[in-house]
Amino acid sequence: MGRGIERWVRPGIRQLSAYAVPDATGLVKLDAMENPYHWPEPLVEQWLATLRDVHLNRYPDPSARQLADTLRKVMGVPDSAGLLLGNGSDELIQIIALTLAGPSRLIVAPEPGFVMYRMIATFAGMEYLGVPLKEDFSLDLPAMLEVIGQHQPAVIFLAYPNNPTGNLFDEQEICRIVEASPGLVVVDEAYHAFAEASFMERLPEYDNLLVMRTVSKLGLAGLRLGLLAGAPAWIREFDKVRLPYNINTLTQASADFALQHHEVLDAQTARIRADREKLMNDLCSISGITVYPSRANFILFRVGRGRGQQVFDGLLERRILVKYLGAGQGVLRDCLRVTVGTPQENRAFLDALEEVAVKTGS
Ligand SMILES: Cc1ncc(COP(=O)(O)O)c(C=O)c1O
Repeated sequence: MGRGIERWVRPGIRQLSAYAVPDATGLVKLDAMENPYHWPEPLVEQWLATLRDVHLNRYPDPSARQLADTLRKVMGVPDSAGLLLGNGSDELIQIIALTLAGPSRLIVAPEPGFVMYRMIATFAGMEYLGVPLKEDFSLDLPAMLEVIGQHQPAVIFLAYPNNPTGNLFDEQEICRIVEASPGLVVVDEAYHAFAEASFMERLPEYDNLLVMRTVSKLGLAGLRLGLLAGAPAWIREFDKVRLPYNINTLTQASADFALQHHEVLDAQTARIRADREKLMNDLCSISGITVYPSRANFILFRVGRGRGQQVFDGLLERRILVKYLGAGQGVLRDCLRVTVGTPQENRAFLDALEEVAVKTGS
């Protein structure tokens, strides 16, 4: 062990593992909820022409004004709301945590949920409490209200739809949570493009509600861009914690260009939504698998008891990379998550899955 690590690195950090991203070289990559499509060639040419005017010798526009205006239009951010941009929505979660951190300050999120809420709470030295979802992965409203009353969380994250379960929580129940919360509630709409449901229009109703989105799942994961919309007074506080120039010049130019042509991304996401339904039906027809409904661009499924790791390994041997979530005995036991890919990728995944025994004892 390096000198001083035990003395100086906080125990919470020492106990963490770095966020692991597997090498996907040569694999059909269905593990990270990416959009599998690029743009038509003429659009790529137009984008490259735009980049000619970018000056890399200068710092970026610190508030990314042009991009922020485009995002407001394309994402339907209400005029009365403030807007903050982040280097991915991960950075926005971090900004929120750093702004609110303090002794016994608490972050709450339903579980299973997005792992970065817990990790970032630890980075920021905050407490974290995961509230178990019900067996069908819906919110346990009484448990959430109990935690709110008892622990007064500084912020609650609700992924809408939820990752990794894929379902949308009940809208009325979310409103109850917002109304009962003394702190902030962040509705994380990372999968908004596939959900056809949103809290964005409801922002003016609540001064403790924030809506977070990302362009990652839309087809721009490589750019690292997220947005947070909500009451301007809150957004101004968060903006003080944002590092200057967090949205680099190439991201500003490229995201603005892509969103000006959002009909291309919209067509791709519509395609993915349709392919999700086909993949869902095809998965349901494989015996020995439980498939969970999805309003996102991925599907959670459970294989026979004790088969999860073998199914994951079997898929990998056939060059298909999905996400294995089910180590241990928790609610995600033997669960895997597959991202909706191109029709060819989905077929390759299904063919491989049919070859791998998914049933207990088979
Ligand atoms: C619910 C949820 N929120 C946020 C993110 C992070 O997105 P970004 O790429 O913008 O950091 C993810 C990524 O998987 C996610 O599932």
